[in-house]
Amino acid sequence: MFDQQLNVLFLLLLTVWAMGRTTSPDLDEDCELNAVDTMHDFCCDLHDESPQFSDCQMEWHEKIPYETDEEEQTYMFCTAECSFNNTKFVGRDRRSLNLVQVKEHLESDLVNDADVTLLFDTYLKCDKHALSLLPHKGVKQLARRLLRQGCHPYPGLVLECVANEMILHCPVKRFHQTAQCEETRNHLKQCMQYLKYKS
Ligand SMILES: *[C@@H]1O[C@H](CO)[C@@H](O)[C@H](O)[C@H]1NC(C)=O
Repeated sequence: MFDQQLNVLFLLLLTVWAMGRTTSPDLDEDCELNAVDTMHDFCCDLHDESPQFSDCQMEWHEKIPYETDEEEQTYMFCTAECSFNNTKFVGRDRRSLNLVQVKEHLESDLVNDADVTLLFDTYLKCDKHALSLLPHKGVKQLARRLLRQGCHPYPGLVLECVANEMILHCPVKRFHQTAQCEETRNHLKQCMQYLKYKS
């Protein structure tokens, strides 16, 4: 009888240990920002690359010919702010959304009302999420690096969040079933689980 209880306890410990092992690699409180850069992964038809984003990618690629992951992150965040500047998505304070502009853009981009609502609600959610991330230690470090290039982290935080949300909640038929998108989605799921159980 006692033996059996020990066995159960052992199995339980083993499970906890195994789970800890499978969820821990490169997951931390900023795993949604750091581990994979999803900003330029357009995996859902509803959230496609805008011409402004492509233009800014070219412009900033010249300014930051990145070699390290850190430089690439700086480049991505400046590209995001550049793009949000050009679409007038971001307010003059550089840390709020111009919702009228966002709505107009989505309405001209998407045919389906339900899609507009889904994406607009995602922007609302991601505005709040981005503001909540600004005080994070990792984000403050990022902000200092961005400042040297004249960029602010808010637009990139919003864009990253929208990209993540659209990868996780894309209507099934509109999701791009490529290896890269599948992998990114699996990673994001792990990251979200981690963030949920961490606190
Ligand atoms: C976006 O616009 C603000 C001011 O309107 C400017 O200070 C900032 O440098 C611009 N960001 C980029 C990445 O061009």
